[in-house]
Amino acid sequence: MTKACVIGWPIAHSRSPLIHGYWLRKYGIDGAYTKEPVKPEELGGFLATLKDRGFAGCNVTVPHKEAAFAAAVIKSQSAIAVGAANTLWFEGQDLACANTDTYGFIANLDQCAPRWKETDGAALVLGAGGSARGVVYGLLDRGCHDIRVFNRTIERAEEIARHFGAAVSAWSWDVRNDHVAQASVIVNTTIIGMNGKGDPEIDFKLAKLGPVVADLVYVPLETPLLRSARTHGLVGVDGLGMLLHQAVPGFEKWFGVRPEVSSELYALVAENIREA
Ligand SMILES: NC(=O)c1ccc[n+]([C@@H]2O[C@H](COP(=O)([O-])OP(=O)(O)OC[C@H]3O[C@@H](n4cnc5c(N)ncnc54)[C@H](OP(=O)(O)O)[C@@H]3O)[C@@H](O)[C@H]2O)c1
Repeated sequence: MTKACVIGWPIAHSRSPLIHGYWLRKYGIDGAYTKEPVKPEELGGFLATLKDRGFAGCNVTVPHKEAAFAAAVIKSQSAIAVGAANTLWFEGQDLACANTDTYGFIANLDQCAPRWKETDGAALVLGAGGSARGVVYGLLDRGCHDIRVFNRTIERAEEIARHFGAAVSAWSWDVRNDHVAQASVIVNTTIIGMNGKGDPEIDFKLAKLGPVVADLVYVPLETPLLRSARTHGLVGVDGLGMLLHQAVPGFEKWFGVRPEVSSELYALVAENIREA
């Protein structure tokens, strides 16, 4: 039996077993995917014995993403760009890593808003935390040449702009609405809106290019930002699709089948979120 898991501290909240368990059943694979609580001080020992305990690899969540990246011997371009890893597997005896959030974000945009790249305006990224790096990398990779990062702590936005180069600029949080008229994509990577609390307060009346609006927050499925965008007739892309798509490369590495993000899987996880 092939085994994989998700590690984090805490880990009880993770929906990854629901996603991978669905695919294991769907494709009739003799495998298991479990949640493993790992304290920060235990991470090194856990990864050192992962292969010997029969695991093909694992997903990695908070607070281990940077440490997992450092521990891996083989680092994919996505992980290097972001400086953090969320997916680990073995190549021979060597631990390899990737950051699949970028893939998940872009694959979800392509699926839910296939025309998102047709308007050549600016991409506004709200927030400059760990997930913002993956989003910026994905937007750059898809040819966005004017990416504006807005953050409450401006130094973190400046660090991202320095890291990714001339196509990325850093802005203070307070000026975000001055840029809405030039936006073709707006992405919330902050925690604002999680559990329905707070609203990034984007004034969509100012929008001129019909921007696609994506939110990484997926609890609730329709965040205050997405509700407001849709009320103004804009396409809103929720964070659950990204969560499902980012799981695809790991499943393929461990279990040898590239799984499909189907409407049935979306409905299963959406129901779990609504019940929470
Ligand atoms: N859908 C998915 O697959 C997926 C994947 C990854 C992450 N996410 C979600 O994305 C969100 C962010 O994750 P992360 O890992 O990037 O978190 P993070 O590294 O902790 O970053 C949090 C961001 O939120 C900002 N922020 C927090 N409170 C704020 C406030 N009151 N006003 C303005 N800005 C505020 C922070 O600004 P400062 O720098 O000023 O503190 C920072 O930019 C979480 O909700 C996470 O669940 C979803």
